[in-house]
Amino acid sequence: MSAASRRGTPSLPDAAPASSAQGLSHIPVLLAEVIGALEIEPGAHVVDGTFGGGGYAKAALDAGAIVTGFDRDPRAVARGTPMADASAGQLRLINRTFAGMAQALGPASADAVALDLGYSSIQMDDPAYGLSFQADGPLDMRLSGEGESAADFVNGASEAEIADVLYLYGEEPAARRIARAIVADRPFRTTGELAGLVRRVVKAGKGGKDTKRDPATRSFQAIRIRVNDELGELERGLEAAEAVLKPGGRLAVVSFHSLEDRIVKHFLAERSGSLPSGSRYLPEARNVRAPTFERPAKARRPSDAELLANPRARSATLRVARRTGAQAWGAGTGANGRAETHGEDRA
Ligand SMILES: C[S@@+](CC[C@H](N)C(=O)[O-])C[C@H]1O[C@@H](n2cnc3c(N)ncnc32)[C@H](O)[C@@H]1O
Repeated sequence: MSAASRRGTPSLPDAAPASSAQGLSHIPVLLAEVIGALEIEPGAHVVDGTFGGGGYAKAALDAGAIVTGFDRDPRAVARGTPMADASAGQLRLINRTFAGMAQALGPASADAVALDLGYSSIQMDDPAYGLSFQADGPLDMRLSGEGESAADFVNGASEAEIADVLYLYGEEPAARRIARAIVADRPFRTTGELAGLVRRVVKAGKGGKDTKRDPATRSFQAIRIRVNDELGELERGLEAAEAVLKPGGRLAVVSFHSLEDRIVKHFLAERSGSLPSGSRYLPEARNVRAPTFERPAKARRPSDAELLANPRARSATLRVARRTGAQAWGAGTGANGRAETHGEDRA
């Protein structure tokens, strides 16, 4: 019997925030389900690839784990440092993307890996990150604070590139009209300026009718995905998790939109040998490789009680799978099934 089941399934933390900064806080999503799925034995090495507010890490420590937490946001790592300092060496934090976990930890070094994708409420609600259209802040969106910002992208990309990003990553039907208006009205410096333009364009196309969601929702999602290369990160992160998990190790991934969930679902289907064989898109050798994961359990969604306590959990989907003893397929295969042209071992 596992330590988790001896203790019983961990209960939800009364919607208690895991961590707070300047009055901002994050409520961990699907916490009991994730920690239960990780089947933590005392002394197990758990990798929390998305440390955030530290909610999962705290629950894993409470279950007796030794935790390595990754976060690409240096501000999240700084907020978690007092928790690491108080952990008597049980929690180590690394400011790095989860795609780098195999390089940081080495192969077959973890009993469990958790990825809770996206952004913490602390990040979404702090205008300084420039992630949200709800408060005015600098048009930034970079979690790491490095590389191309959202302002660099909207002020520098071609109209066609902006339209593609809005359409592919935001599934925004008005992508072309918004892109045309962005190019005509730029430069944009703040989230408020950009959100205002997108709202005007979308509402004009709908004859001024109100929609249920803020018309800027899809465009902001798309630009965040692009600026943080979220989908590429996820593909590399899944490959890295495959590399670091020991035989029998558990992977739990919580995603927040269909583009992410599609990648996770496809990766686990591919790696568990559940894809239809003989796909003409896959090199033959890949179809005969030994599965690196057992067939995943059915996806789980938040309970009504959790949704009531934390409406931000509404789009969460949890997928869980157990690692087999087969050799990792490694990088270059593409978690989404695409054959990649570069063979660099990124995991
Ligand atoms: C939803 S929050 C995690 C919340 C956490 N499970 C908790 O209970 O507090 C996601 C966190 O992952 C981080 N993150 C997003 N993408 C990342 C990546 N590719 N590598 C590492 N950290 C990432 C974000 O900066 C954010 O702090």
